[in-house]
Amino acid sequence: MSNVRSSYTDGIRFYGKEDPRELVLRYGSPLYVYNEAILRKCCRDLKGLSDLPGFFVNYSAKANTNPHLLRIIRSESCVADAMSPGELYFNQLAGFSADEITYVCNNVSAEELMNAASQGCVVSVDSLSQLETFGQSVPGGRVMVRFNPGIGAGHSDKVVTGGKKTKFGVDPDKLDDVLRIVRSHGLKFVGVNQHIGSLFMEPGPYVSAVNVLLGMAERLIDHGQPIEIIDFGGGFGMPYHKYEGQSRMDFSALGEALHGTLAAWAESHAYHGRFFIEPGRYAVAECGVVLGTVHAVKNNGPHIFAGTDIGFNVLARPMLYDAFHDVEIYRQDGMPDSEEVEQTIVGNICESGDILAKDRKLPLIRKGDVLAMLDAGAYGWVMASNYNSRMRPAEVLIALDGHARLIRRRETLADLAAALVM
Ligand code: LLP
Repeated sequence: MSNVRSSYTDGIRFYGKEDPRELVLRYGSPLYVYNEAILRKCCRDLKGLSDLPGFFVNYSAKANTNPHLLRIIRSESCVADAMSPGELYFNQLAGFSADEITYVCNNVSAEELMNAASQGCVVSVDSLSQLETFGQSVPGGRVMVRFNPGIGAGHSDKVVTGGKKTKFGVDPDKLDDVLRIVRSHGLKFVGVNQHIGSLFMEPGPYVSAVNVLLGMAERLIDHGQPIEIIDFGGGFGMPYHKYEGQSRMDFSALGEALHGTLAAWAESHAYHGRFFIEPGRYAVAECGVVLGTVHAVKNNGPHIFAGTDIGFNVLARPMLYDAFHDVEIYRQDGMPDSEEVEQTIVGNICESGDILAKDRKLPLIRKGDVLAMLDAGAYGWVMASNYNSRMRPAEVLIALDGHARLIRRRETLADLAAALVM
């Protein structure tokens, strides 16, 4: 079968032995599809940033918590973070043991802190106030503190997490207060962490922030604290503009800078603990696409709209952040249309902001086409909702044998009503 626009996924054999239109027929539309080989490759890229024995990829589960993917990530020797009881539960379902999970939360209740600590996870708190709560709730417990390095980066103000304008982290100037609270509750201060933001393509800000956190760790070691984990956070970007040939982040430059810095620091400080990076997106974005069906096409004045079943309840990123996802168009016996025209791809939700791709130059989309929104594996299904009382989609995994396997069924009307008290 030839498609209208599929050279990217054809080139990497994304669908293995399957055909995307056939997958939609089999499992329904819309549908999340993941590719195991790509997931493993991305985990290995991350792991390859340093071969220090204490270097770990602490996968940030918020990007995708499907336990089938988590299990693959764990089999690639990653550990994982969690920031809610749900993420902790999914990590455990996937087989991560407590010492492989760090609980990196913010603004949570004493009960939630106690729950994570009682299950054996190291908890990271990100304010003096939460440190105090932790000390009262888990006296003598093991704790990490998230510092705000004053450096931020990210694809949207909504996801920059370093710097004074954001709610995250403890100001490094407050170290004396941190130590006072730690001592007053007999806590074991075992680690420091930070996260500057999500999606940067240049290594510079990250490497600068690594040096800031190492400076903090040094001060703590000087204060006699038994630091075991230094976690630099995630945020590594990948190219969303596939059809424009956007370049990848230079991982060899990043690896060189990171590995060199960490190796030298570990040696000069006789540090035998662990170094974490905490990526979510880089690990899972490119292994996932979401497929949907075009149910209507129309013109409103000069504007052409292609109406699909991929509303912002299915993929929220374009609506929330004006995020860009590339589009592929699959049509039975389709011939690539020579001319590209500007079209706006929309969903089936009752809001004008329900736009997936605005004014995109693409071959003319027709009713019945199956579309793929690429790079939807990170912050895709996990941010899907039941808005307009729609059911969240199924997920399938193209395993290493090239065949698809259902890893989450589509929700039903009964699922929508499951928590109601009637
Ligand atoms: N660690 C912490 C403490 C975080 O808050 C985050 C992301 C990560 C690690 C992983 O960051 P990543 O490597 O995935 O960039 N929903 C947004 C992204 C939100 C990121 C929130 N925190 C999006 O769809 O772009």
